[in-house]
Amino acid sequence: MDILRRVQEYRQTQDALKWEGTFAEYLELLKEKPYLAQSAHSRIYQMIKDEGIEEENGVRKYNFFSHELFGLEEALEKLVEEYFHPAAKRLDVKKRILLLMGPVSGGKSTLVTLLKRGLEKYTLTDRGAVYAIKDCPMHENPLHLIPQHLRADFEKEYGIKIEGSLSPLNRLRLEEEYGDRIEDVKVERIFFSEDNRVGIGTFSPSDPKSQDIADLTGSIDFSTIATYGSESDPRAYRFDGELNKANRGLMEFQEMLKCDEKFLWHLLSLTQEGNFKAGRFALISADEMIVAHTNESEYRSFISNKKNEALHSRMIVMPIPYNLKLDQEERIYQKMIEESDIQDVHIAPHTLKIAAMFTILTRLKESKQSNVSMLKKMYLYNDQDVEGFSDQDVNAMKKEYPDEGMTGIDPRYVINRISSTIIRKEMQAINALDVLRSLKDGLDDHPSITKEQKEDYLDFISIARKEYDELAKKEVQKAFVYSYEESAKTLMDNYLDNVEAYCNKAKLQDPLTGEEMHPDEKLMRSIEEQIGISENAKKAFREEILIRISAYARKGKKFDYQSHERLREAIQKKLFADLKDVVKITTSTKTPDEQQLKKMNEVVATLVEEYGYNTQSANDLLRYVGSLLNR
Ligand SMILES: Nc1ncnc2c1ncn2[C@@H]1O[C@H](COP(=O)(O)OP(=O)(O)O)[C@@H](O)[C@H]1O
Ligand SMILES: [Mg+2]
Repeated sequence: MDILRRVQEYRQTQDALKWEGTFAEYLELLKEKPYLAQSAHSRIYQMIKDEGIEEENGVRKYNFFSHELFGLEEALEKLVEEYFHPAAKRLDVKKRILLLMGPVSGGKSTLVTLLKRGLEKYTLTDRGAVYAIKDCPMHENPLHLIPQHLRADFEKEYGIKIEGSLSPLNRLRLEEEYGDRIEDVKVERIFFSEDNRVGIGTFSPSDPKSQDIADLTGSIDFSTIATYGSESDPRAYRFDGELNKANRGLMEFQEMLKCDEKFLWHLLSLTQEGNFKAGRFALISADEMIVAHTNESEYRSFISNKKNEALHSRMIVMPIPYNLKLDQEERIYQKMIEESDIQDVHIAPHTLKIAAMFTILTRLKESKQSNVSMLKKMYLYNDQDVEGFSDQDVNAMKKEYPDEGMTGIDPRYVINRISSTIIRKEMQAINALDVLRSLKDGLDDHPSITKEQKEDYLDFISIARKEYDELAKKEVQKAFVYSYEESAKTLMDNYLDNVEAYCNKAKLQDPLTGEEMHPDEKLMRSIEEQIGISENAKKAFREEILIRISAYARKGKKFDYQSHERLREAIQKKLFADLKDVVKITTSTKTPDEQQLKKMNEVVATLVEEYGYNTQSANDLLRYVGSLLNR
């Protein structure tokens, strides 16, 4: 019921937005809101801007893209600032076809889809509203009605520039339906919709022999020739090609360079002169942004062909590389999984991150600086701190290869491997090891991997595997320590009692026997050594802690084992070290005793409650770490 109500509401909003009036009334509207007459390019740029722009570390982030496209900030900034923005200002780039060039599954189609869906919504808003000559199949710009000789004056009065001339069809209608009275011509508000073929067109190449130019520019309607007497009567023509329908909005040209040349030439005149030829008519003006996409190898072979020079000079090529940030890659997988039908399967923590490590490594190029391993480079690109490297180093690294990110493993491959593993093995839970194995097995079937690449890729899998081993060990240790929270506290209290006695040159009392004892030097040193405090430095360290405690006491604050960063680290390390054997024995024993069993259950519970595992993946993790520690 709720959904029906919402459909109804939606219809009502749409009805409320409808507007119809005469051209004279439309001009009144323009006086108030000149932006209604903006060009297609300008509307698209406004749409992006209106969603908001944030700046992070000197890189712009456009909210319009950032919910769907991850890690492409630099490429998107270039795209917006070097194409959308100047095109909106009618600069020369507007006259070129925008060609997005990038590797397969790198987000090109997603980007264009965002623009299309965005426009559908934007034209429902006031700032994005579009008006057109009523009942025109190309939703022609009403301002085309203004005769050429009056346009300079119009521009002065309204501050609006008019480009393009009235189409043959509307010229005829003006004469026949309106007796040349332009002020009476009906104008309506239109709403872009790809489904309804308003303002958004898509063209994808198929068999060049059967594909007809009519798909782009429309065709003669033979059934009506008899009515109108001639093929050159525009009413006997169906202006229903993709270029016609996309007028005022956006035209997507999928895999453009796979297309037959004759299609491309139409685009040239459209972008360059703002018009195209259809049937036997004078040129038809159109105002639309043309976005095409292609991959790098097709692009290379296209530009190496001399014949294409003219075309090439009229395109503006924008690279859309793969994302190179680890965290963002993980987000991509998360998004793709949410959109898929495997979203119910439990994916153990770190699984996607480890898969992403492998993927990012395949995309990076080895730095020319000798002290940068691939792994370090990966972390640096992910904005993590790596000892010995500054932001400048990272920027220098990024400049080493301007085309980095154009090769490597695509996100779809990873998602396909994950889902095929889940489906084939009917798994309820999947972890990093399952995924690495599956990524490895899939390399043989991958269509575009050379033998050499495969060797590198296998190396990357083992690098990712080693990173996982470290992560897994830490996670289990942490879970053990968590259940040992009490002992962290006890250990620390014990340490502090001894430090106090040491500094005051006093003795301690044995709580059981009441006997007096010297401070336990061995215990204190075993903790201090964990963070590299030398014999000579121990006194200063202990005194510093006492000062800190009394400072806390003065302020009435409680000093606990989190209060002193280095001490906390020392205590944790000491616990890890002491635990090593407990973890090792507990996790690897085949016949656990009662106490070990209890401990295991506690740890599993911690992993489930605090770290996002389920019972199965937690148990798998414990078993795996057990085997690691026993190697
Ligand atoms: N940088 C990225 N951010 C978010 N999703 C991405 C990114 N790169 C690829 N994807 C996802 O990968 C899949 C393939 O992308 P797609 O846009 O079809 O690529 P292309 O058209 O370049 O081949 C889509 O599900 C897309 O959402
Ligand atoms: Mg695509």
